[in-house]
Amino acid sequence: MAKTKSFRCSACGANFTKWSGRCDGCGDWNTIVEEAPLSAGPASKSLGAKRGSALELSDLSTEEAPPPRTTSGIGELDRVLGGGLVASSAILVGGDPGIGKSTLLLQAAAEFARSGLKVMYISGEEASAQVRMRARRLGLADAPVQLAAATNLRDILTTLEEERPQLAIIDSIQTMWADNVESAPGSVSQVRAAAHELTTFAKRKGVSVILVGHVTKEGQIAGPRVVEHMVDTVLYFEGERGHQFRILRAVKNRFGPADEIGVFEMTGAGLAQVMNPSALFLSERGTPSPGSVVFAGVEGTRPVLVEFQALVAPSPHSQPRRTVVGWDGGRLAMILAVLEARCGIPFTGLDVYLNVAGGMKISEPAADLAVAAALVSAREDSALPAETVVFGEISLSGALRPAPQSENRLKEAQKLGFTAAITPSGGKALADMGLKLTQMGDLTAFVGDIFGA
Ligand code: TYD
Ligand code: MG
Repeated sequence: MAKTKSFRCSACGANFTKWSGRCDGCGDWNTIVEEAPLSAGPASKSLGAKRGSALELSDLSTEEAPPPRTTSGIGELDRVLGGGLVASSAILVGGDPGIGKSTLLLQAAAEFARSGLKVMYISGEEASAQVRMRARRLGLADAPVQLAAATNLRDILTTLEEERPQLAIIDSIQTMWADNVESAPGSVSQVRAAAHELTTFAKRKGVSVILVGHVTKEGQIAGPRVVEHMVDTVLYFEGERGHQFRILRAVKNRFGPADEIGVFEMTGAGLAQVMNPSALFLSERGTPSPGSVVFAGVEGTRPVLVEFQALVAPSPHSQPRRTVVGWDGGRLAMILAVLEARCGIPFTGLDVYLNVAGGMKISEPAADLAVAAALVSAREDSALPAETVVFGEISLSGALRPAPQSENRLKEAQKLGFTAAITPSGGKALADMGLKLTQMGDLTAFVGDIFGA
C-alpha cells in the first residue's frame, strides 16, 4: 500500500492531504508542514492485533464516584481546574512567551508538593540550576519538588517510569523531541508525538501531566492547538504587556466548567492571587466621564465588573477606523449597525475606539448593552449616571435580552458600592438588592431615556 502523506497547519492545526503555501483554515502563510503518521491503523490478524473490548452503555455504573482531586491551596488555580487537580489527567497551559507560564507552574509545583503530591518539574528550556534560582527568587527553595532538565522524550519517560511522580510538569512541549520522529523539535510532528506519548503515559500509569505550550505563529514552532484535543483540560494564561494582571482561563475542561477564570497579579516575588478582581479592574476609574461604562459581567461562576471605554471622533480617513482591545471586532460592527438602523444613530465618518480597561478580555454577549452605552455616551459627549452598572444582550432587531446570572451580577455591583443598574426587562424577576433598577425592552428606549438621543 502506498504511504499517504499528511500535512498540518502549525498555527491552527487543520489537516491537509497536500502541501500549500497558505492554510485554508486560518489563512496564515508558510505554516503547513508535513507530519509523520502516528499509527498505522488496524493491524492485520497475523500480526497479533488485539480486539478492543466494548461495553453496553447501560453496563456502566451510574454511581461513579467523582474523580479524586488534590488542591494546591492556590484558590485561583484550583477553581480554574474545576476544584483541584484530577489524578491521571492531562492539562495544557498555553500562553505567549514571557507571559509567566514557568513562574505560575513552578509556584503550582511547589504548592502541590506541599499538599503531599510527589511532583516533578521537567524543564527543556532552563538548566536545573536556573530553575532552582527562580524557585529561590519566588521563595520556594524549600519545596520538595524534583527538578530535571531534559528534552529527549525517551529519557523523560524512563525517568517518569522510575520515579513515578503523581504530577509531572513539562516546560515546554515545544522543546521536547522524540528520536523516532524525523523532524526538528518544535515542529508539528514532534509536538504531536511528544504530547501523544506523554498523555497516554499519564492515563496508563496514573500520573497527571501538565504540558506548557507557547502560543506563537512564527516559523516552525507548532502552536499548542495541535495538542488541545489530546488533553482533558486546556488553560490559557493571558494578559497585556504593560499590565500587571494575568488571567488563567479554562477553555476546555473535562472535569469542570469551561470559561472559569483565575486572576493573578505579577509581583517581584511571583504571581499573587487576586481575590477580588472587580475592585482591581475598577481601581483606576476616575469620576464618571463620557464613553466610560461599567459592565457587570460573569466569568465562569464568578461575577466580574469591568469598565468599557469608548472614544468617538471625526475621522480624517476615507475609511473610518474601528479599533477594539479586549472585545470582539465583529460584535462591535454589529452593535454599530443596530444603533444606526434601529435607533438612527449613525457612526459614518467617525473613528471608533473601544477598550476594556485593565487588559481583560470579554467575550460575553451580555456586554452588548454596556458597549452600546459606551459608544452612545462617547458620541453624545454625555456621561452615564454615576455609580451605575449595565448589562444585557442586544438582538439585531434592537430588542434587549436578559442575561444569565443577573442576580449574581447585581449582587457584585452592590457589594462594590454601585447604586443603580440598567438591565433588559423580561426574564426572571430580580430580587431587590438595594440597587435602583431600570429595566428596558429595547435599545431605542434605552438611548432615548438615558441620553435623550
Ligand atoms: P516566565 O514565567 O519565564 O514566562 P514564560 O514561561 O511564559 O515564558 O516569566 C517571564 C519573566 O517575567 C521572568 O523574567 C520572570 C518575570 N516575572 C516576574 O518577575 N514576576 C511574576 O509574577 C511573573 C509571572 C514573571
Ligand atoms: Mg517559560
